[in-house]
Amino acid sequence: MLETDTLSISSAKIIHNNTSQSILQLPVQETLDYFKSHGVLLFRGFGVNYEQMKAFAEKFSSRFVLDKDRPIVDSRNKYVTLVDPGMHYVSPHCENANSPFRPDVIWFCCSVPASQGGETLYWDGVQVWQALDEELRQLFIAKKIKFFQKFPAADWKRFLGAGATLDDVKRTLNGISGLSYKINEDQSVSLEYVCSAFVKTKYGHQEAFANSLISEYKNPRGAVTFADGSPIPSAIINQIQQVMNNLTEVIPWQASDLVMIDNSRFLHGRRSFTDIKRRIYSLLSYMK
Ligand SMILES: [Fe+2]
Repeated sequence: MLETDTLSISSAKIIHNNTSQSILQLPVQETLDYFKSHGVLLFRGFGVNYEQMKAFAEKFSSRFVLDKDRPIVDSRNKYVTLVDPGMHYVSPHCENANSPFRPDVIWFCCSVPASQGGETLYWDGVQVWQALDEELRQLFIAKKIKFFQKFPAADWKRFLGAGATLDDVKRTLNGISGLSYKINEDQSVSLEYVCSAFVKTKYGHQEAFANSLISEYKNPRGAVTFADGSPIPSAIINQIQQVMNNLTEVIPWQASDLVMIDNSRFLHGRRSFTDIKRRIYSLLSYMK
C-alpha cells in the first residue's frame, strides 16, 4: 500500500517514501491507478535523479519524445532535458499542445530547487473548463483555434532524428486531422494546426480546457487565432487568465522530488526566479 498525502489547496497526490525504498520498487499498477484518478503525482523522499526518473518512466511509457527547444542532459539519456531556459515566468500551457504531437505525460525531477520562487505551477483543465463563463464555453464549442509554427530544418531533424529527410517530414505530417503544412525553400516547415481549445481527458473522458492558447498568445514567436484566421480578442484571453488565476496550484520543490503530470488534463507553467543554481529536468512520454 502506498503512503500518500495531498498537497494543501491542491489536487496533486503526494507519494511519500517511508520505507527507504527506491522509486523503482513502487508498485506500478497502484501508482498508475493514482495517476489516472489524480493526474498529478509528487514522489517525495525517494532521492530521484534524472536517470531514475527515466528508468521509472519506462515502466509506464511506450515511447519518449524529445522537446525541440531544450538542451539534452547527457548523450546516454537523450530524452532527458533541462526545462525551459531562462528564469522568467512561464504562462500556462500543455506540452506541445500547439501541435498534434502532444505527449501523454510530462515528468519533472528536481535536482536543486530555487532558493526563492521557481515553483512549477499547474492548473486542472477540467476545473478551468467548468469555471469559465457559459458564454466563453459556447464560444469555444462553436469555434476551434489555429496554431502557427515554423520549424527550421535543425528543429525537425531534432524531432525526427538527425538523418531525417523531407520525405520523413511528409510521412510524419501527411493525413493528420487538423494539420496543414508547407515546406519552404530553406527546408523549414510551416505548420498550421486547427484544434479544439477543450479536449477530452485521457482518463475519464472529461472535458478539459487543456491547451496552449494563453502561452502561444503571449509568446512573441508563437501565433494563435480562431480557425478562420480571425484574431482572438485580448479581452477573452484576460477573462480566461482571471479564471485561471483563482485555480493556480503550486509544486513547492524539494531536492530529489519527482513529478508526473497528465498532459491531457493539466496545464503547467512556472514562477520566475533569480537563483542560477535551480536545476529541474524534464522528460516527455506516451503512456503504454
Ligand atoms: Fe512546458
